[in-house]
Amino acid sequence: NPEVYILAIESSCDDTAAAVLCNDKVLSNVVANQLVHTQYGGVVPELASRAHQQNIVPVIDAALKKANISKEQLSAIAFTQGPGLMGSLLVGSSFAKSMALALNIPLIAVNHMQAHILAHFIDEEGYDKPEFPFIALTISGGHTQIVRVDNYFDMTIIGETTDDAVGEAFDKTAKILGLPYPGGPLVDKNAQLGNPKAFKFTKPKVPGLDFSFSGLKTAILYFIQKNKAENPNFIDENINDICASIQYTIIEILMDKLKMAVKETGIKQIAIGGGVSANSGIRNTLKEAEAKYGWKTFVPKFEYTTDNAAMIGIVGYQKFLSQNFENASVVSKARIQF
Ligand code: KG4
Ligand code: ZN
Repeated sequence: NPEVYILAIESSCDDTAAAVLCNDKVLSNVVANQLVHTQYGGVVPELASRAHQQNIVPVIDAALKKANISKEQLSAIAFTQGPGLMGSLLVGSSFAKSMALALNIPLIAVNHMQAHILAHFIDEEGYDKPEFPFIALTISGGHTQIVRVDNYFDMTIIGETTDDAVGEAFDKTAKILGLPYPGGPLVDKNAQLGNPKAFKFTKPKVPGLDFSFSGLKTAILYFIQKNKAENPNFIDENINDICASIQYTIIEILMDKLKMAVKETGIKQIAIGGGVSANSGIRNTLKEAEAKYGWKTFVPKFEYTTDNAAMIGIVGYQKFLSQNFENASVVSKARIQF
């Protein structure tokens, strides 16, 4: 079997990313973050697509160079078809299409959410791959889903958020606390120095395996307003405890549903993915759950948690093996299910 070299391109939101894989091994994984959005407190779609335009050529060049692979050696080009921001997706897909056409190699369309899950199949020293079936918890700025994974492309969403995503819950509460966007990592950082039981926030009552996070955001807004009225320095004096308590509540909400999913499916292998799986509290809680509940948990390598192209590449590799190719008329989709 000859080696398969995949160039993968990810441009669904505000990061321009490219990676080169040789089979299931990552040779390079390059990400250009768009700092332009920080000043606006969130991703501005128009600015995102413009920045992708500027970044895509240098990022792809860097990925090929780092991998020490020439364009002519590539077996296929994989790109993110969706879900994501249309203007951002179009930059990646147009580039992938023209490059595949110019090199006369196959084009592979990848579902971003499947990629967050299948990132666990990247061959990486010190990281085990889950066995089918397993449960995936995908937690990002745009999604919160519990997925039953029976095979690479046999996935069923068994629970999801009815309003905000977990990442939004982190980012929006961070904004209330005056932290810059994206606030998730900063809440995490402060939480490590705080007492998670300092303040108590009620958990929402949502039936089944679904989630809701918009109520938590509102509860925190009122909590802050009330306390600030009594003490204008309330946030500054308690920032670590506030962050730790918010993070604790979010983790409790996630763990409650995971426990329920394990009970309902009988599956005890849990794999997390998506930007929020970088959260240290979530990572620690899941590892503790191994001893506590007899689960086997899979936490991806840090660089494969937030948006990256290596995860697009591993799906590209799987699709390459089954010759699952697209022609140049394939369209980007802002919303797609599995
Ligand atoms: O997967 P991702 O990079 O992009 C989307 O597809 O949305 O996820 C980004 C999200 C943001 O909401 C960000 O605040 C959150 O992941 N995030 C974190 C942490 N690192 C990133 N949230 C909590 N703790 C972290 N350490
Ligand atoms: Zn993502």
